[in-house]
Amino acid sequence: MAVQSYIKIKGGLKLKGEVKVSGAKNSVLPLLFSSLISEGEHHFKNIPDLKDLHLALKLLSSLGLSHKKLKQELIIQNRQKLTGDPCPKSVQSFRASILCLGPLMDIGKTVKIPLPGGCDIGARPIDLHIESLNKMGAKICIKKSHIVAIAPKNKLKACQLKLKFPSVGATENLIMACVLAKGTSFLENIACEPEILDLIRYLNKMGAKIEQLKKRKLKITGVKKLLTLKQAYPVIPDRIEAGTWLIAGACVRGQITVKKCETKHLKSLFEKLKLIGFDVKWNSSTALLKPGSQHKSINVKTGVYPAFPTDLQSQFIALMTSLKGTSSLLETIFENRFRYVEQLNRLGAGIQFENPSKILVKGPVLLKSNKLMATDLRAGAGLVLAGLMTPGTSEVYGLHHIERGYENFVPKLKSLGADIQLCSSKSKLYK
Ligand code: UD1
Repeated sequence: MAVQSYIKIKGGLKLKGEVKVSGAKNSVLPLLFSSLISEGEHHFKNIPDLKDLHLALKLLSSLGLSHKKLKQELIIQNRQKLTGDPCPKSVQSFRASILCLGPLMDIGKTVKIPLPGGCDIGARPIDLHIESLNKMGAKICIKKSHIVAIAPKNKLKACQLKLKFPSVGATENLIMACVLAKGTSFLENIACEPEILDLIRYLNKMGAKIEQLKKRKLKITGVKKLLTLKQAYPVIPDRIEAGTWLIAGACVRGQITVKKCETKHLKSLFEKLKLIGFDVKWNSSTALLKPGSQHKSINVKTGVYPAFPTDLQSQFIALMTSLKGTSSLLETIFENRFRYVEQLNRLGAGIQFENPSKILVKGPVLLKSNKLMATDLRAGAGLVLAGLMTPGTSEVYGLHHIERGYENFVPKLKSLGADIQLCSSKSKLYK
């Protein structure tokens, strides 16, 4: 009989204490893929231990790169011309695998790979990645669920283009493609999430010539090759993890100190927490949340950075169930990110849809414990937060989703005083 892991939560306890944030998942993945475009050693620190990171390393290994991981440091060796082919299973297992495409076209490697997998939160097309790389001289098309990508014989050529939408992944792929391309590229309407700026910082340290002309405009002058850095490059802290802990504290009216974060990346969250009535204070790397005297309902609209992050949507909705009055959340990035709402309603949350992109939460609701299934990574975090608020014992299944993007999720919550544990069951699979 199959063994199924789940998280068991005895809810209703107040959280209190300090928690340290790990390196950012969405930063480390593009950084890892950027090692494809430069021979030599790539040394990173503040590396989180995540499932998606292991998948990315497997994919890089299949192409011929080796690596050594020591606690929170990682050294990737790119020694030779890449002779291997990308491991199809790794590509299929996570969405960010698409980030190998720009670098591979940049170094002239033709590949056929399956379409990337990852969280089921919408159609998640890759048209922007493909169209822009094709404008640079690659020949990429989709045939029978596979990406067939033919690299140009000579270098990619520089481009001038404006993205239809500031896609995070497409911006990262394009940046990595332009770094070694022939000529000077101008990219407009790019995404400018902190993780993208982290990638730019790393590439520039290696000798790339990337200039941010305006908030959403880059000038990239192609260079012949990149250099090896002498020092380990630190990955920025994970703002979504930091936000998750603050919202967890807010959900149970606890007093939480989040350390080792970049608070300047969390402004949109602080603003909403303060509007609700929480007392939030911060310096550059630490944030402190305390409950206020009353907590009122709030309207939230997700958007591209610096707006409220879609990756904190489900956690915030868990919080909304405890607020007095009707709160609303409008999702503008992914069209299918509310699948977990049905699970929250299994706790008695009574969440309603005003339209497919907007939900209404009437609070406060006294949630009732139940068994829940995580439908994606962040939904999993949101369901656990709801479990923390719910008296009695709740179980959250689909743990593999949470492990993709949170390091030590359960131990960190335990250290804040949550009654939570990892369990496995051999009984009938819960779906
Ligand atoms: C990244 C993050 C993810 C976050 C998201 C939005 C990583 C590894 N993942 O995902 O955690 O939720 O940004 O902040 O960094 N789109 C297209 N065509 C494309 C590409 C995107 O239509 O070619 C659409 C998507 O379907 C989606 C929107 O653009 O509706 C945003 O996607 P994008 O910014 O590309 O997100 P990801 O890079 O996949």
